[in-house]
Amino acid sequence: MELKQVIENRTSTRTFLNELIPVADLKELVRRAGLAPSVNNYQPWIFYAITNSGLLNKMAIKVAEKLKEIPTNNSIAAKNLLSQVEWFATFFENAPAVIAIAMDEYESVLEMGVQISHEEINKMRNYPDIQSAGAAIQNILLSAVDLGYGACWLSAPMIAKSELEKLIGIQPPHHLIAFVAIGKPSKVTQQKQKKNLEEIFRLID
Ligand SMILES: Cc1cc2nc3c(=O)[nH]c(=O)nc-3n(C[C@H](O)[C@H](O)[C@H](O)COP(=O)(O)O)c2cc1C
Repeated sequence: MELKQVIENRTSTRTFLNELIPVADLKELVRRAGLAPSVNNYQPWIFYAITNSGLLNKMAIKVAEKLKEIPTNNSIAAKNLLSQVEWFATFFENAPAVIAIAMDEYESVLEMGVQISHEEINKMRNYPDIQSAGAAIQNILLSAVDLGYGACWLSAPMIAKSELEKLIGIQPPHHLIAFVAIGKPSKVTQQKQKKNLEEIFRLID
């Protein structure tokens, strides 16, 4: 599909047909993710393609448990809100595949010559590790559309980050960044209203 078309067609898909995704397609999605730009071309990522529904279910349970630990004011509004958030954080369990993106620490050139920690440099540079992950994730989202799938980026499940890392088998120095849920869309998703160009474009000439 033409790139412009892919960009214009992409929308977050959260309900999927019960159709397996061939491993070849999952590999192709990750291959394209790996072509994304990254800080110092360090490519500090590993992508775990999870198709095991039992594991996805266990992961969703951990996320739901964590959400229940959030203190609320016990109002009905708070309960409704949390149950809505719970769905947005756990629907991935019904996806044919979830790609979990894990990042390693990149090596900063600056780190070799100055007495500033990796964490400080990362903060000074506005978290290029997370920025790199974002580029890779967008490649997955667009490639999913290109291959006839729908996908959704998820950060809400990260509330149970350490529990999810244990379940998936992600070990230091890698840490979990986000999920992408993927599958054939079960319905046509209404595209979200986006700001018009005049609102978001500023020319500085
Ligand atoms: C960093 C990031 C985190 C997101 N996390 C979630 C999430 O946890 N759950 C969810 O259902 N959608 C999540 N989304 C999807 C957004 O809700 C979605 O992109 C937004 O509503 C715009 O809709 P569109 O993707 O269809 O254009 C996330 C998107 C981004 C970029």
